Amino acid sequence: MKITYHGHSCFELSGSRRVLIDPFISGNPAARVKPEELEPEVLLVTHGHEDHLGDAVHIAKRVKPEIGVVHELAVFFQEQGVEAAGMNLYGSVELAGVKVTLLPALHSSSYGGRYMGSACGYLVEMDGWRIYHAGDTGLFGDMRLIGEVFSPQVMMVPVGDRYTMSPELAVRAVEMVKPDVVIPMHYRTFPVLAQSIGAFTEGAEQTGARVVVLEPGESHEL
Ligand code: NI
Ligand code: MN
Repeated sequence: MKITYHGHSCFELSGSRRVLIDPFISGNPAARVKPEELEPEVLLVTHGHEDHLGDAVHIAKRVKPEIGVVHELAVFFQEQGVEAAGMNLYGSVELAGVKVTLLPALHSSSYGGRYMGSACGYLVEMDGWRIYHAGDTGLFGDMRLIGEVFSPQVMMVPVGDRYTMSPELAVRAVEMVKPDVVIPMHYRTFPVLAQSIGAFTEGAEQTGARVVVLEPGESHEL
């Protein structure tokens, strides 16, 4: 399993299938890839904010991946002429053989003023790996439950503050979820976000997790 970071909250998981999460590419000056280069078989979007929905509709129209998103976001995709499976919190679907579970995130979700359902995280199960992408979220106690129920080996956690957790609070999230590997995201993209992960690495490693910091375009092999 190879995890490639495309900046902000966008990750590509390459195992038996290619799974793309939150493809905010053309609006992100830090992205090292062009949306036209991405060929996902599964496409996931955590919530309707522009810095997550990003290029999703364009990529979906070109590549026709299987999509699983919260109901309201699925309706939005369908209105754009894109097939998408609607789901909701703690529900699972199988997309191209990849099991995807929608998890809660403590955040809002809208697009152009339109309500887009709950903001979500995802658990992606592929090739024996359980990968938890927390989406945009604040700290919430059910992260402990997510850790207990799903035992994710890998977690992507937002650390940029202001719209999500700070690096310090993200350490508390890692404490609850207890992943083996944690990858920080949603920082440095914009001036209003934290420009560094601060004390996150030291704090998260005290929980026993290995912190993997990826630059846009970099990959980590599990
Ligand atoms: Ni957001
Ligand atoms: Mn965001």
